[in-house]
Amino acid sequence: MNLIIIAAVSENGVIGRDGDLPWHLPRDLKRFKQLTSGHTIIMGRKTFDSCDRKPLPNRRNIVVTRDPSFEGDGIEVAHSMDEALSLAAKDDTVFIVGGSAIYEMSLPLADAMELTRVHTSATGDVRFPDFKEANWDLVNREYHEADETHQFAFSFLTYQRPPPNP
Ligand SMILES: NC(=O)c1ccc[n+]([C@@H]2O[C@H](COP(=O)([O-])OP(=O)(O)OC[C@H]3O[C@@H](n4cnc5c(N)ncnc54)[C@H](OP(=O)(O)O)[C@@H]3O)[C@@H](O)[C@H]2O)c1
Repeated sequence: MNLIIIAAVSENGVIGRDGDLPWHLPRDLKRFKQLTSGHTIIMGRKTFDSCDRKPLPNRRNIVVTRDPSFEGDGIEVAHSMDEALSLAAKDDTVFIVGGSAIYEMSLPLADAMELTRVHTSATGDVRFPDFKEANWDLVNREYHEADETHQFAFSFLTYQRPPPNP
């Protein structure tokens, strides 16, 4: 399994505000759809709530919750990250799509990160976990200016975990 974290993160580490994203960046949403379609996504229950409790189409949706009675159409439910990863064990590519604790539990395990760095200092109530950039190889960077449909400039950053030392 190739395990990939995907997140949009402000310069000051914010990813969410009041149960939603702190920005509207159509180009980022398009990229999210392009990268994750056809694959498995793992998300926390609050992120699932932020999608109006509807599964994202053309993807295998796994929702992590501690609620033993939680269920929903078109999703699979896991009660821990371990359970979510076991459900997805045979899948080629699995995206971790948030939120905060789900990212944190995945950071030590992920093979790659697709981060959108949103070039603003955002106010919000949910943050991406701190990570050491030096522990990752930045293999691609694509900068986009702000424009009439994108309030902030942003950069698509692809990080890969370096191969282990021989
Ligand atoms: N910028 C981005 O890329 C991005 C991506 C995703 C989300 N977001 C934003 O982030 C916010 C939501 O994220 P969040 O961090 O608040 O919540 P979240 O991670 O989506 O969901 C938290 C919930 O996940 C479940 N959970 C967490 N750890 C667990 C564990 N170890 N075992 C079992 N269940 C566990 C619990 O569900 P129960 O309470 O049901 O037990 C917990 O309340 C929203 O504002 C959303 O828009 C932003």
